[in-house]
Amino acid sequence: MARFLSDAIISRQDAISRGVGTPLALPTFDRYAICNLRGGIGKTSLAFNLSYLADNLLAVDTCPQGNLSYFYDNGYYQNVSTTVNDVLLPYFFPGLGKASRVAQFIGATNPHFSTKKNYFMPSSAELYTLPSQMANALASANQLSGPQKVTVTDSLLYSLKTEIEREVIETGANKVLIDTSPFFSGCTHLAWHAVDALIIPVRTDKQSVNSLQLLLRTLSNPSSEFRRNMPSDQHAPKIQMIVLTGCGWTTRAGARNEPNQQTKVFLEEVRDIVARNIGHFTTNDPDKHIVLSDDFLGSGRVSSALSKPIDLMNPGDSTRINRIKTDVNPSVDKIKNQLRFISSNLW
Ligand SMILES: Nc1ncnc2c1ncn2[C@@H]1O[C@H](COP(=O)(O)OP(=O)(O)OP(=O)(O)O)[C@@H](O)[C@H]1O
Ligand SMILES: [Mg+2]
Repeated sequence: MARFLSDAIISRQDAISRGVGTPLALPTFDRYAICNLRGGIGKTSLAFNLSYLADNLLAVDTCPQGNLSYFYDNGYYQNVSTTVNDVLLPYFFPGLGKASRVAQFIGATNPHFSTKKNYFMPSSAELYTLPSQMANALASANQLSGPQKVTVTDSLLYSLKTEIEREVIETGANKVLIDTSPFFSGCTHLAWHAVDALIIPVRTDKQSVNSLQLLLRTLSNPSSEFRRNMPSDQHAPKIQMIVLTGCGWTTRAGARNEPNQQTKVFLEEVRDIVARNIGHFTTNDPDKHIVLSDDFLGSGRVSSALSKPIDLMNPGDSTRINRIKTDVNPSVDKIKNQLRFISSNLW
């Protein structure tokens, strides 16, 4: 008899960490957004690392903090470039000229990506004001009636999708990965209408699980900000995967990649939430939608400091961050395998 609801998830984790995990046999899609309505839980780190593991990808940074844009281009905060905000503004302020060819070749500014045909659309701090512009535009649309209301609302809600589709054609990309902010209003809302499915990082802490529940309510509740204004085809994203970030493992002798007690408690809770909301997932099997990933530790700090994908790092590498020697931890090989497994179940 199963001791834990999550036994199946726990027992495959060892093979995943050793790089021999059996694929989850999920349906695959072209466009994903990485999203959870909480800060600092690994959205951007996952977006950056997963973008490295794919080719012909368009990464879209919709978070006004611009962390992903900085990873791709360390000159991002100094340079003036055309951004996601520039392509969206004409939808909210008719009359403004439309931008095109906004995506930049990542390999031009981050040499680690030089062999990848990957592009990114930079974010902008101006996206902080998008929520109020969007709310005004949607309120005006709601004053219209009949087909006009439908046309204008669809145009607003699908603005990001329309612009991404144009950039996909211009760059020749066949995959899209959107990094989002911790807040729903504004670009995250538009991202949900632009993608087929979501990838949701959940850190093993109570607040992060609460934000997963908030996300699910936003996705399902008829009175939520998302459901209140739907496009005419009622599109809503499904959830492909929940990535538990920052997992810890038992140090008991002989235990092979078995989550520690704290991680297990959160895993059980998340598994229960997934089962109760399975209609929002891309299959009806809760066990297929949760993958665990280690705390990145020093590997994460080195990766951030050097804008270097974890896949390119090895145990024993080290670098000085603010004059403190920081080592890539021995578990980096395990983390690489976990990231590759996640990636192989997306595309
Ligand atoms: N398994 C993991 N997956 C992703 N990030 C991890 C993991 N373990 C540790 N981390 C660390 O957690 C931090 C997450 O920061 P990150 O900027 O990715 O979060 P975020 O969700 O994008 O935050 P924000 O909402 O502010 O944009 C990074 O320092 C990263 O190295
Ligand atoms: Mg981020």
